[in-house]
Amino acid sequence: MPVEPLDTAQHNREDFSCGVEGVDRYFQAVARQAAEKHASQSYVLVPPQPRPVPCEVIGYYTLVAHTYRDPAMDATTAKALKISGLTGSIPMILLGQLGIGIAHQGRGVGAMLLREALRRSLHAALSIGGVAIITDPINAAADAFYQKHGFNSLIAGQSRLYIPTAVLARYNPDVVAMFKNQPQMLDINFGTQHFLA
Ligand SMILES: CC(C)(COP(=O)(O)OP(=O)(O)OC[C@H]1O[C@@H](n2cnc3c(N)ncnc32)[C@H](O)[C@@H]1OP(=O)(O)O)[C@@H](O)C(=O)NCCC(=O)NCCS
Repeated sequence: MPVEPLDTAQHNREDFSCGVEGVDRYFQAVARQAAEKHASQSYVLVPPQPRPVPCEVIGYYTLVAHTYRDPAMDATTAKALKISGLTGSIPMILLGQLGIGIAHQGRGVGAMLLREALRRSLHAALSIGGVAIITDPINAAADAFYQKHGFNSLIAGQSRLYIPTAVLARYNPDVVAMFKNQPQMLDINFGTQHFLA
């Protein structure tokens, strides 16, 4: 099934509900504006073509560039991330939201969309850096879901969870190969034209 950047002309925001108010509210009231400001990007899982316009949103997630600030990083985590010498500002990618429509829950869709989010995060981390993907589970059920799928506590006793980018790279060698072999994305004109013109 296709995963696409949120486009409110194509995707029905209003009728989406995963049953958790904060996750629904973000999708309906914040996600589009945040993307327009390049503050975050939300992606939607939608039915394959042909489909009506706007179409049902089966699930969504949001990614955000994040600088983790912690002068006293947990020693075990710092070792796992190989960042013992990197304190203060640590580049990461935040999985800000993840929700599956109530009618679609419990059938493996959340696991599939999480995997897609992590693969996209890995590609972003390879492009610009980011030592881990982190998330803040909204409740105990979400915490259990993420831990089941490989996330661990970033700081003992706190709710924030993480997966090292290095682990994602090890389990997704095709994404790493895709990154290394990607064709030239920007056709650069080395003439006199200003790049903002
Ligand atoms: C959490 C959520 C994304 C999971 O999506 P889902 O499609 O229902 O989950 P899946 O069917 O893909 O479950 C995948 C696996 O995780 C497990 N799982 C799902 N929810 C779980 C939970 N609350 N606790 C523990 N395990 C859970 C399932 O048992 C399944 O395991 P299996 O593969 O061994 O059978 C979805 O229920 C949801 O949108 N919840 C409301 C919003 C939310 O809490 N978002 C996350 C935090 S922002």
